[in-house]
Amino acid sequence: MKIAVLISGRGSNLQSILNAIRKNTLNCVVSFVISDREDAAGLIRAQKRGIPTYVVDRKIWKERLSDEILRIVSDQVDLIVLAGFLSLLKGEILNKYKNRIINIHPSLIPAFCGKGMYGMKVHESAITYRVGYSGCTVHFVDEGMDTGGIILQKIVKVNPEDTPDTLAKKILKKEHQAIVEAINLFLQEENH
Ligand code: GAR
Repeated sequence: MKIAVLISGRGSNLQSILNAIRKNTLNCVVSFVISDREDAAGLIRAQKRGIPTYVVDRKIWKERLSDEILRIVSDQVDLIVLAGFLSLLKGEILNKYKNRIINIHPSLIPAFCGKGMYGMKVHESAITYRVGYSGCTVHFVDEGMDTGGIILQKIVKVNPEDTPDTLAKKILKKEHQAIVEAINLFLQEENH
C-alpha cells in the first residue's frame, strides 16, 4: 500500500510512521510528504529518508490548495494521512479519496475539536475545563472539520498538576501509537 502524508509542522507523527515502516510493524510505502508550509520541520524528516516532498503553500494556493494536492497524489496513493495538517481539505479530493483520508486530532472527539481547535489550543481548553481524561482520535475526513467517522481513540488521564504542555506531551505519545495502529487497521481492511 502506498500512502501520502500531509503535514504542517514538526512531523513527529510522520516520524512515528517512518519508524514503524523501518521496524516492519507497518507494511506500506510513504510515496509523498506534502506540507502546506515551506518551513515545516517534518519535510526534513522525509528528505532524510529519501521520500519526495512537496510544498503547497497555503498562502499561495488558498482555495486551490486541495486541488493541487490531488494533482500531486493523482491516483498514485491508496491512503492520505493527515498528520498534523492544519488546512481544511475541500472539493474533488474528498470524493476521489472518500474513506481513504484519515486525520489525527489531539482530543477525544467530539470534545475540543472543530474550528480553531488545533495544536496547543486543544490542550489549553482541556485544562481550562478541568477534564479528567483527554486523548487522541484518528478519524476519516469528510467535508466537515473533525466530523468524519472515528477509527480509534486513545485515552490519557489528566492530573490536577497537568499543564497544557505536559498534557500535550502525554497525548503525543499516544498519537504516535494511534496513527500507526489506524493505518494498520486500514491495511487489514483493504486486504480482506
Ligand atoms: C499533533 O498533536 C496533531 O494531533 C495535531 O497537531 C500536532 C502535530 O504534531 N493536529 C491537529 O491539531 C489537527 N486538528 P506533529 O507535527 O509532531 O505530528
